[in-house]
Amino acid sequence: SILIVDFGSQVTQLIARRVREAGVYSEIAPFTTADEAFARLQPKGVILSGGPASVPEEGSPRLSDTILHAGLPMLGICYGQQVLNQQLGGTVEKGQSGEFGEAYIAVSDGCDLFDGLWAEGEAHQVWMSHGDKVTELAPGFRPVAASPGAPFAIVADDVRRVYGMQFHPEVVHTPDGGKLIANFARHVCGLTGDWTMAEFRQAKIAEIRAQVGSGRVICGLSGGVDSAVAAVLIHEAIGEQLTCVFVDHGLMRSGEAEQVVSLFRGHYNIPLVHVDASTLFLSGLAGVTDPEAKRKFIGKTFIDVFEEEARKIGGAGFLAQGTLYPDVIESVSFTGGPSVTIKSHHNVGGLPERMNMALVEPLRELFKDEVRALGRELGLPDVFVGRHPFPGPGLAIRIPGEVTRERCDILRKADAIYLDEIRSAGLYDAIWQAFAVLLPVKTVGVMGDGRTYDSVLGLRAVTSTDGMTAAAFEFPGGFLPRVATRIINEVRGVNRVVYDYTSKPPGTIEWE
Ligand code: XMP
Repeated sequence: SILIVDFGSQVTQLIARRVREAGVYSEIAPFTTADEAFARLQPKGVILSGGPASVPEEGSPRLSDTILHAGLPMLGICYGQQVLNQQLGGTVEKGQSGEFGEAYIAVSDGCDLFDGLWAEGEAHQVWMSHGDKVTELAPGFRPVAASPGAPFAIVADDVRRVYGMQFHPEVVHTPDGGKLIANFARHVCGLTGDWTMAEFRQAKIAEIRAQVGSGRVICGLSGGVDSAVAAVLIHEAIGEQLTCVFVDHGLMRSGEAEQVVSLFRGHYNIPLVHVDASTLFLSGLAGVTDPEAKRKFIGKTFIDVFEEEARKIGGAGFLAQGTLYPDVIESVSFTGGPSVTIKSHHNVGGLPERMNMALVEPLRELFKDEVRALGRELGLPDVFVGRHPFPGPGLAIRIPGEVTRERCDILRKADAIYLDEIRSAGLYDAIWQAFAVLLPVKTVGVMGDGRTYDSVLGLRAVTSTDGMTAAAFEFPGGFLPRVATRIINEVRGVNRVVYDYTSKPPGTIEWE
């Protein structure tokens, strides 16, 4: 395995993901507790993440001496490179200006990281994001690639098998980054690369059993893929110690609640309590228009209903949720770093402090496509696993302005038509997420001989690999006009349809 020491980068989990893609098991540990993880894992190599701190500054994070002097292969990324260089006897200086975004590095020499990949004299695209830089290399290192702004873009110490990269190989904007990390894991650390999702399943099952013991777990189903996969996995680990509670907030897509109930009760025979709480949610949302207020109310109410059910069931010390990594990273900041809250996610932000149940979140380090792979591994039906992501707060955040039962019904109908057309056109799997948004804007139209004054509906479809960045999907000609016509003809209350071309960033996928 590989230990990833986290210095607080926004993208540390992407490093873990790249290592998993190379077929190697990895764990992430914050630099503060890395020694403990190191002793337990006995890894064959260590990767040091980037981070928001500045090496020359007093009190900035360091790698423990135990790990630094263990004699294992190491790869330092960005802050990780700088801190390694500093601790091994080189110098790092505060930069006056930074280097951010796409850059090209020139390969000046060979090294094990480049095996079968890069050769001397080539130039390759990488993603830079740094302020400080290494000004004097620690003894034993030699530069093997440079960019105009970073003379030590990649450095290597072949004897100690320690490497450093000033750029981020883990992000997609470094096209060969995954291969560089795979080379580190396999060629440098000598790992075989035969780790699979089946092993992840077994490892998580063992972890869940160890955490829960003979305790009882209640799992909140949201209706989406994530919580379903979490529930099935947990059920496999602890069987009847798990009870699922499906808090139906009435903000689901058309037919979804029924699907979840039949899948759990029928297919898996997992104990399921189905609570119809739509009236509670909708009455609480009356008059609420602020997106964060909606999210917080739904998150809090979800937990309230949950706690009540938990009390009825009795004796459960654990609450399970299908929280994914992107939910975590956009909601919390790590080690006080500068990562800001973009949106309070349903799964995390709404959790009231008073909760006295411990959390079981077996998918916390996974990305969506990895959850799907795990779901397939667990035998969930393909149509279910392949379903587009759906946010915890449901349709409420697709109805800017006030949410009412009537507006939910309008949106549900329009959304179903849109998805139906996407499926018939064979485009469903090419799209990461497609949905309709009901706008609080009315416009004038003409239908037959009459004037209409009805709502505008926005259509959105994006491609993405992890939900953290996204691009608008380009439909084939004729598709959108056909959908617009059907919706306007079939859904009363909508008389105009528009398409959203915004990418993420600067937009987000959902409108609220
Ligand atoms: P944004 O809108 O932040 O969405 O670009 C990124 C992805 O996350 C989904 N999303 C959520 N998922 N709880 C969830 O479980 C939430 O509160 C939530 N908000 C957004 C969104 O649908 C997209 O796939």
